[in-house]
Amino acid sequence: MVKLNIVILAAGKGTRMHSDMPKVLHEVGGKPILAHVIDCAKSLNPAKIIVVYGFGGNVVREKFAHEDITWVNQAEQLGTGHAVQQAAAYLDMDSLTLILLGDVPLIDGQACEKLISSSSSKLAILSFIKSEPTGYGRIVRNQSLVKAIVEHKDATQEQRAINEVNTGIMAMPTVHLIKWLTQIQNNNAQGEYYLTDIVALAVQDGIDVVAEITTDEWSVTGINSKVDLAQIERELQKRIAQNLLQNGVTLKDLARLDVRGHLSCGRDVEIDVNCVFEGNVTLGDNVKIAANCVIRNAEIAAGTQILPFTHIDDTKIGENNRIGPYARLRPGTSLAADAHIGNFVELKNAQVDIGSKINHLSYIGDATIGKNVNIGAGTITCNYDGANKFRTIIEDSAFIGSDTQLVAPVTIGKNATIAAGSTITKDAPADALTLCRAREQKTIVGWKRPQKIRKN
Ligand code: UD1
Ligand code: MG
Repeated sequence: MVKLNIVILAAGKGTRMHSDMPKVLHEVGGKPILAHVIDCAKSLNPAKIIVVYGFGGNVVREKFAHEDITWVNQAEQLGTGHAVQQAAAYLDMDSLTLILLGDVPLIDGQACEKLISSSSSKLAILSFIKSEPTGYGRIVRNQSLVKAIVEHKDATQEQRAINEVNTGIMAMPTVHLIKWLTQIQNNNAQGEYYLTDIVALAVQDGIDVVAEITTDEWSVTGINSKVDLAQIERELQKRIAQNLLQNGVTLKDLARLDVRGHLSCGRDVEIDVNCVFEGNVTLGDNVKIAANCVIRNAEIAAGTQILPFTHIDDTKIGENNRIGPYARLRPGTSLAADAHIGNFVELKNAQVDIGSKINHLSYIGDATIGKNVNIGAGTITCNYDGANKFRTIIEDSAFIGSDTQLVAPVTIGKNATIAAGSTITKDAPADALTLCRAREQKTIVGWKRPQKIRKN
C-alpha cells in the first residue's frame, strides 16, 4: 500500500463566527469540528497527519494533545498555498499527500479513499456541482481532464458561469506537490498564494488533473458562520437518526433527537422526543426512553424504562429498572435490576441492589443500598461534613421512614425499620425499629386556630 501523508488546513481565523474561540474548536455532534476531520484522516491509515494551525494556535494544539499529529504554525495567513508550503518540510517524498480542510466536519472517508486511489500519478480534486457557485473556485475542464481552477474573484464572466466548483480537497504524489509549491505566486485578485494554482502547474508539467464529482454536498461543506454550524449540526443529527431508524430503533420524531457522541441500541428500543445523548451511551433491548431526558456516558440494560425529564450521567443501570420522571443519576451510580427510582430523587455514587425503591424526593449519595430496601419520601443521606465525605450502608430489606436523615458514616442493618422523621447518627441494628425524633408528639385539646384580624 502506498504511503499517505495528510495535511489539514486549519489556520483560518473564522471571523464570521464572531467568537473568541478558534473556529475549528466549535462543536458539531458534541465534538470539535477539527476532531471530525482528524478522525476521518485517521481512518485512512496515514503515515503522518499534519495540521496547519494559526489563529488561537495553542488552544487548538492543547485540545488535541493526545493525538499523534505534526503541528505546523502558519503565523500569517497568506493563502491556502502558503499554508501547505508551511507543511512541505514535514512531508515524505515517497508518499501521496491528501489535503483536507479543518472546517469540513462531515468529510466522507470513502470519497477520500477514491481520491487517493485516483492520485497515484495524477492530481485528483474533489469537486461538486453548485447551482449558486459564487465564492468558489471554478473547475475549468477540457473534456475529462481539468485545465485549471480559477478563483471566483479572478474568474471571467464566462468562467463564473461554470457550476462545477472546487471543494478544496485534493490528493497528489508528494514529489509533484513539493515542486509546485515552490512555483506558486500571489499575483491575483486577493494577493494570496492559492493552492489551486497547482492545477495549472500540473498541466504545464504534463501531469493529468482529474476531478471526482461528489453528490453529497454536506460532506464537503465548510463552516464559516454560526448559521453553517447550526445547519451542519442538523444534517449530522438527521443522519444519525436515520441510521438508528434503519437499525430498528423507534424514534417518535427524527428531528427531535440529539446524539452528541455515540449511541448504540439493542432491539426494540424506543426514544421519545427531545432526548439528548452525550458521550457513549448503550441501550439494551426493549429500553424505553421517555421525552426530555439527558443521558450521558451510560449503560442501560434490557427492559429498563426511563421516564420523562430524567438526567443520567456516568451511570450503569441493570435490567428492568424504572427511573423517573424527574430523577437525577449522577456519576458513580449503579443500579442492579428491578429498582424504582422516582421523581426528584438524586443519586450520586450510590449502588442500589435488586428490587429496591427510592420513589420520592430523596438525596442518596455515597451509599450502598442492599436488596429490596424501601426508602421513604424525603430521605437524605448526610454524606458530607463540610470537609469529608462518608458512606451510608443500608442492608437488605431495610425500611427507611419518610423524612429521615442518615448522618454518615452509618449502617442500617438488615430488615431494620427507621421511623419517619428520624435523624440517625449511630448504626441501627438489624430486625428492629429505631427512632430518633427531637420531641415526642403531644396533643393540645381545645387549641384554636388563629383568626383573621378584622379592620373595623
Ligand atoms: C478555497 C479554495 C476554493 C474552494 C473553496 C472551498 C483556494 C485558493 N481556494 O477558497 O477554490 O472552492 O476553498 O471552500 O484554495 N486556510 C489556511 N491558511 C490560509 C488560508 C486558508 O489554513 O492562509 C485554511 C482555512 O482555515 C480553511 C481552508 O484553508 O479551512 C480554506 O480557506 P478559505 O479561506 O475558506 O478558502 P476559500 O477562499 O473559501
Ligand atoms: Mg472558504
